[in-house]
Amino acid sequence: MEDQAEKLREIMRQKKNTASPPAGAAKSGASAKVSAKANEKMRIITVTSGKGGVGKTNLSVNMALAFARLGRKVIVMDADLGLANVNVMLNMIPKYNLYHVIKKQKTIREILVETEYGISIVAGASGFSQIANLGEEDRKDFIGELDTLSNADIIIIDTSAGVSSNVLDFIAAADDAVIITTPEPTAITDAYGIIKIIATEYDSLNMGLKLVVNRAKGAAQAKSVADRMINIAGQFLNLKVDYLGFIYDDISVQHAVLRQKPFMVVDPKCKASICVQHIVERMDRNKPGEPRGFGAMMRRLFRPSSSETA
Ligand SMILES: Nc1ncnc2c1ncn2[C@@H]1O[C@H](COP(=O)(O)OP(=O)(O)OP(=O)(O)O)[C@@H](O)[C@H]1O
Ligand SMILES: [Mg+2]
Repeated sequence: MEDQAEKLREIMRQKKNTASPPAGAAKSGASAKVSAKANEKMRIITVTSGKGGVGKTNLSVNMALAFARLGRKVIVMDADLGLANVNVMLNMIPKYNLYHVIKKQKTIREILVETEYGISIVAGASGFSQIANLGEEDRKDFIGELDTLSNADIIIIDTSAGVSSNVLDFIAAADDAVIITTPEPTAITDAYGIIKIIATEYDSLNMGLKLVVNRAKGAAQAKSVADRMINIAGQFLNLKVDYLGFIYDDISVQHAVLRQKPFMVVDPKCKASICVQHIVERMDRNKPGEPRGFGAMMRRLFRPSSSETA
């Protein structure tokens, strides 16, 4: 965890050195351009984790389906820029993906594809490891591209696990940053590592951090994992983390993954599906309070951190 924390701090130091002015003061570039046409109602939800393989893509896709069933227009964006998963989970091979956006050959809107499940996806760029090392300007341009999706009600961003500038940008930009862990000690430790960095670097922001415990044996186990993390975050980081809910360890998830369909579709009554439905109902009841959406996102993203303003 220490290594990961140090790596993140280094990234944040680099970000600060090349930081752009806050969006309000921006005269040029993506932030100034996009804030003018922001859809303040659009809700941006990131799903992230410290450790890989804990259930981000399953949660992102199935949460999107549950929101769609509530009548929301939802886009899932696969921001795992090294190993795309979302399209694999949905058995789709889109012709274009984020690689083409990063290379400025396509816009995000042009690569958006509808699925048979009532949600749209932006496919990730598998095997394009260079994206992990995108420069500051390219990253900003890329995030600026999200503005073209502003007719959606909700964008769910499935990030890669762990630490990178891209992930941090997305987390900083989100209305709701969902951190997912399993009850495994290594997953908990890594999730706490991410929360700690967010707290350290963005303490002036109300991040709307939310915790989901995946692959739990039951409510009691999940609650005890969540309570521990939330107490530590409150006590040592002075950071409020909300417990959003848990998902059962459920063989139906594995079956659905093998069939390359969302478990909410294959088995809408399975334990995991019911849990995701509860999580989404809770999120839908607790909408972000202050004006959000793209303009707000850009302001959050390009606002100086507390140490810069101090
Ligand atoms: N609730 C669950 N019950 C049982 N198995 C699960 C559950 N959630 C996830 N899994 C298993 O874990 C695997 C990884 O899940 P998923 O691909 O969603 O994780 P991820 O965090 O997106 O991984 P990566 O970091 O590689 O992107 C699934 O293929 C499935 O086998
Ligand atoms: Mg994934």
